[in-house]
Amino acid sequence: MLVTGAAGFIGSHTCVDLLTAGYRVVGVDNFANSSPRAVERIREVAGEAGANLEFVELDVLDAVALGKLLAATPFEAVIHFAARKAVGESVAMPVEYYDTNLNATLRLVEALREHGPRRLIFSSSCSIHGDVDVLPIREDAPARPTNPYSRTKWMCEQILADVCAAQPDWHVTALRYFNPVGAHPSGLLGEDPRGIPNNLMPYLQQVAVGRREYLSVFGDDYPTADGTGVRDYIHVVDLAEGHRAALEHLDDEAGYRVVNLGTGVGTSVQQLLTAFGAACGRELPHRVVARRDGDVAALYADPSYAAETLGWRASRGLDEMCRDAWEFQRRNPGGYDGAAA
Ligand code: WQD
Repeated sequence: MLVTGAAGFIGSHTCVDLLTAGYRVVGVDNFANSSPRAVERIREVAGEAGANLEFVELDVLDAVALGKLLAATPFEAVIHFAARKAVGESVAMPVEYYDTNLNATLRLVEALREHGPRRLIFSSSCSIHGDVDVLPIREDAPARPTNPYSRTKWMCEQILADVCAAQPDWHVTALRYFNPVGAHPSGLLGEDPRGIPNNLMPYLQQVAVGRREYLSVFGDDYPTADGTGVRDYIHVVDLAEGHRAALEHLDDEAGYRVVNLGTGVGTSVQQLLTAFGAACGRELPHRVVARRDGDVAALYADPSYAAETLGWRASRGLDEMCRDAWEFQRRNPGGYDGAAA
């Protein structure tokens, strides 16, 4: 397997899952938003299977290096994670987001068209829907992306669909994630964003470990049960297993397919605060502030298509997500490159 963005949060957990399932993996990353330390951790967590990981520092935008890699190795398939992924940053830096996310996918598709394999799993996002009228969200819900990041994901999906329409020997599955959280239960791999975390769970982790003073709750006046935002949080190990299920079903049908990877369960900010407090054994300081621009009240998946087509369902609940996230943060208070506990 070739995995791009392999040192990232979901990429690293997917490499561990593939390795322990017996795959040989070549991981590539440019470390723009990840740490080389994560590569060592993948090997450590995978144990003996870690010997089947080859890692190459490479930017997917480097078409020559990418072509050489694909020409040299007969890969079975490719999982493409490498992308910029912060919504707020994408609003401030649209050009960099369109340049990186669209061109990385285009360079990869050109290299696969020339060298093979024409078998790709693409990392997409439920945020391509924007604000939805109907919940839970099905794969055929309208695409109304509301920021440059989610527009790049929607555009990449359309590029891949058009490539499959042009050449019938492609097998492409786009996986739309909901809210990936948690960590590998070993406490060695987890979510370690650079700078101030945009997302709720890594921010909460850093409050719990004392790196952040308190959590700002972005609004408690939403039309939800407790007034705070509701999302479909999914354990990153469930997500990794979902990628392997998609890989193992890639031959079911040629062409382009989209599958949601979510739990189908909506959890509010307040519920997550309570669950994480229970996991780390302390009340987490927080303050309710104004809503964040662009946020919607509630998003959660209809996971039935993934169950039908991939034979996959998420199995890990909120307590396990919080337990594993806390274990990683507790053991790595400064993240991969920070001071140890
Ligand atoms: C979750 C909830 C916030 C931070 C984004 C992207 C999506 C995907 C996942 C890439 C919301 C609230 C958050 C905080 C808070 N990323 N919140 N205080 O916005 O659902 O999705 O990340 O693929 O594409 O859109 O995730 O974790 O930022 O927010 O109250 O400090 O937590 O209002 O209700 P989101 P999030």
